[in-house]
Amino acid sequence: MCSVVGYIGKNKSKAFVLEGLSRLEYRGYDSVGFACLSQENNTIVSAKAVGGLDNLTHMFTMAHIDGFLGIGHSRWATHGQPSESNAHPHFDCQKTVAIVHNGIIENYLSLKKDLELLGHVFYSDTDTEVIAHVFEALLVATSDMENKHKTLAQVVVSLVSRLTGAYAFMALVQGYPDTLILVRQRPPLCVGIGDNEMFVASDAFAFAGKTDKVFFLPEESFAFVKKNEIQLYDFAGNALPVHMQALDLSWQDSQKNEHEHFMLKEIYEQKAVIHKTIDSLQALHDTIWDYMGITAQQIRTLDHISFIGCGTSWHAARLAQFFFEQVCKMNSSVHLASEFRYMTFFPTQHKIHLAISQSGETADTLEALRVINAHTMPTVALTNVASSTIVREAGGFLLTQAGREIAVASTKAFSTQLAALYWLAHRIALEKGLIAQADMVQACADVIYAAQVLEASIEKYKHEISAYHARKYATYSKAIFLGRNSSYPFAMEAALKLKEIAYIFAQCYPAGELKHGPLALIDEHTPVFIFSHQDSLIYHKLLSNAQEVKARNGHVVAFVFEGQDEMCALADLYFVVPNVAPLLGQLAMTGLMQFFMYAIAKELGCPIDKPRNLAKSVTVE
Ligand code: G6P
Repeated sequence: MCSVVGYIGKNKSKAFVLEGLSRLEYRGYDSVGFACLSQENNTIVSAKAVGGLDNLTHMFTMAHIDGFLGIGHSRWATHGQPSESNAHPHFDCQKTVAIVHNGIIENYLSLKKDLELLGHVFYSDTDTEVIAHVFEALLVATSDMENKHKTLAQVVVSLVSRLTGAYAFMALVQGYPDTLILVRQRPPLCVGIGDNEMFVASDAFAFAGKTDKVFFLPEESFAFVKKNEIQLYDFAGNALPVHMQALDLSWQDSQKNEHEHFMLKEIYEQKAVIHKTIDSLQALHDTIWDYMGITAQQIRTLDHISFIGCGTSWHAARLAQFFFEQVCKMNSSVHLASEFRYMTFFPTQHKIHLAISQSGETADTLEALRVINAHTMPTVALTNVASSTIVREAGGFLLTQAGREIAVASTKAFSTQLAALYWLAHRIALEKGLIAQADMVQACADVIYAAQVLEASIEKYKHEISAYHARKYATYSKAIFLGRNSSYPFAMEAALKLKEIAYIFAQCYPAGELKHGPLALIDEHTPVFIFSHQDSLIYHKLLSNAQEVKARNGHVVAFVFEGQDEMCALADLYFVVPNVAPLLGQLAMTGLMQFFMYAIAKELGCPIDKPRNLAKSVTVE
């Protein structure tokens, strides 16, 4: 979601803040802004622009703005349209306070009303602007300036006591030229500790490569960051110790190289990162339960696994459900994190909850995790980011090794999640005595082979897709996606890809539901993408569904497995993928599916890596 970046130290702040924002721009990119304390007279100077970072850097006024203390923001609109006035930083009436914010201030309307009665004048539709005005009102009301920092801490305590919601913000205050003020209620904030300089951001990736020491603000805390010191407090104003951590993040692997888009690069990285993920999990082998925060005994008596996630991670969970049910003979359930917290929660024994999140920062997933943690039930995070909030909050964790995923539409994170979950299902089955060590070894080999098929299938079809099919399917304004059993969640993922990056309306159904309504939508203007299954029974049911579509003058695009000739004969267009281990058919088909959706979006000239209205890391509920 929105990104906040700040700097205080020996150098001018603008260069780092803009570079940090560009690194995090995938999180939100509808408007952007920068503010700093000017060296000349210590006043707050700023510039804002609608759209991406380039629009800001090209502004004439930006050339004249810089200072040793600066903050910046790129926005994903929640309150108010993307516009210059709604872009951050936001200011109080006198422009003595500048705020950049991530999250939502839920009581902003009532605060705004009270402040307007006191004479404050607002210029934006945002919730953020109220923070600046409340801060201003509290600073004005504070007369004891003798013990300045004690006073400032008291002001921040009063400020946070007035705000409700899930938020993190950073503030510059004119009267405090040596201090960057950080407040974290829920969304993450971290400080990279340099030599007489501090880098601040919502994501450590902003300063990767500049320092190897990082400090993550705990929840419900605030910090005064100076160029060589961090003073930390809880929301009651009590001083807290600062625990630094080592930072092991590289920026180098985040270039597009020869690829036109990050999404394409990430599609092509899948074979290698699936391999890496399996290798790293195999290396854990007997220590796996320690990482997961669970005992081997708990695993042996485990009889239910519950998955939670959002978006593509939720689709991975829906697919993984088949792994756990079939390999571990275990009951499993899958929940959308955004719905989970409103459901009645029944703590049960012999159950673990596995929260899946590429970023480890998705607000809905974290909130669901907190609900379960509050019942002291075992929780495990499966994530791609070792330094993420979910790793810190879950009882234990497992990591995928996808490497940084930059494109908003998830590709390699999805396939590595599938690989890791397939591995975990087998590892649990091994612990329970349901499979032998040789089966575990075979499972790893099967995943590696499916990853090879994933890549080979792209290679086989990429030229014809790019040369003909993408052009043709880019002309349709809507599409229907069908699957059965594990190919149904896979079809959901395919439909999501088409929606996200090509802006084509795509509706996904379990194929068996076709006759219960969606069949009325079938015509020659609506292609029906059917994702086959290796299981013969399921395949033949899907074949019947394809026949029902064709009988109504429909248009079928089929993704099938070798030997499924009847479907090929029926389809208007088909792609054939080699057979793999029974539960890995969708993993093997993943690359081809993603490449086809990518090629359609490219044909349409869409901004593939940063689709409109979306963000990679969704840190608001
Ligand atoms: C956003 C992203 C999706 C992602 C989802 C869940 O919507 O655009 O690509 O699948 O968040 O993200 P997570 O990081 O929790 O997997």
